[in-house]
Amino acid sequence: MRMLVTGGAGFIGANFVHYTARNHPGYEVCVLDALTYAGNRESLAPVADQVRFVHGDICDTTLVDRLVAATDVVVHFAAESHVDNSLLDPEPFIRTNILGTYTILEAVRRHDKRLHHISTDEVFGDLALDAVEKFTERTAYDPSSPYSAAKASSDMLVRAWARSFGVPATLSNCANNYGPYQHVEKFVPRQITNVLVGERPKLYGAGENVREWTHVDDHNEAVHLILTKGRAGESYLIGSGDERSNAQILALVLDLMGEPADAYDHVPDRPGHDLRYSNDSTKIRTELGWQPRYGDFRAGLAATIDWYRHNDWWWKPQKDATEARYQLLGR
Ligand code: NAD
Ligand code: DAU
Repeated sequence: MRMLVTGGAGFIGANFVHYTARNHPGYEVCVLDALTYAGNRESLAPVADQVRFVHGDICDTTLVDRLVAATDVVVHFAAESHVDNSLLDPEPFIRTNILGTYTILEAVRRHDKRLHHISTDEVFGDLALDAVEKFTERTAYDPSSPYSAAKASSDMLVRAWARSFGVPATLSNCANNYGPYQHVEKFVPRQITNVLVGERPKLYGAGENVREWTHVDDHNEAVHLILTKGRAGESYLIGSGDERSNAQILALVLDLMGEPADAYDHVPDRPGHDLRYSNDSTKIRTELGWQPRYGDFRAGLAATIDWYRHNDWWWKPQKDATEARYQLLGR
């Protein structure tokens, strides 16, 4: 199996490449990544001898065409992924998430290759805190931010190419991930690394917003299942079912790191802040037999904290620039 992984130097993509090397050592993996501020070649160091790395842009038609021609399957993680950045400057989100996905779709169409497109539950908008219903594969798209609107657009393109051109594509929408190698701009690593550098953690608004937290290895196991057993043209929602408010997560981080419960700052809320996400992942559980392995969130979070404690060489170089961006946003 020859596999082209876009965005393989980012958080989920790098963990996907590690997972693939561990569980499918016979696969030939090629990573295509532009190494934006979010990409880090060091994340692939442990598997460097098992992976070919190509430094390039998914909007580069010639390069993408050549790489797609030489693979069996494309797993498409590359994206601008951070909501707050999309509020500061939406342009790279439109370019990479929409135009980049279009470039990949045209290449897989030309060469008749299998595509799996990685998406997010944010395309559905948000739910009330007390809503009983969850997002399903049939929920209408209703994105709130430039990030989620661009991801929703890319999903629509994938669906159209599958239906109109018969491109053998699958799509998954996962909930919030946590684990090692996540950029320090994201909620969990930002709070952990703030504590480690002696800064106070930052909670947006009242901290009542709810996310469904899934370990990155559980997400990637689901992606592998879709690649082997998924049906072309179908979407699959992925989520652990473990919903927690931001205030609850922060309390757990402070507790696990031995900090007082009130050792954090409230900062102004994110404009348009989605209140709650919650995926109904019945389809992937019943049709493909997916089950999250990381059932104990406290233990998964403790291991993640440990990883950041022991790998400051990986995240420290990004920390100051990240906090400078937050200064611009007032958060
Ligand atoms: P990330 O920001 O950590 O990594 C993105 C990677 O894409 C980086 O390595 C970056 O260099 C690369 N990239 C960006 N623009 C590129 C371009 N034009 N050409 C080639 N490479 C480019 O993102 P992540 O958190 O790992 O998310 C990966 C995917 O999963 C995204 O599509 C995201 O929408 C989706 N997703 C993320 C989460 C989450 O909780 N992080 C949850 C569900 C879905
Ligand atoms: O649901 C999937 C999505 O999860 C992915 O599509 C996105 O790529 C990923 O970034 C993530 O989006 P969120 O906006 O939910 O994640 P973020 O880590 O930015 O924030 C999580 C929650 O924490 C959100 O409600 C905002 C809040 N927050 C965030 C930061 C950075 C804070 O309270 N304080 C912070 O410092």
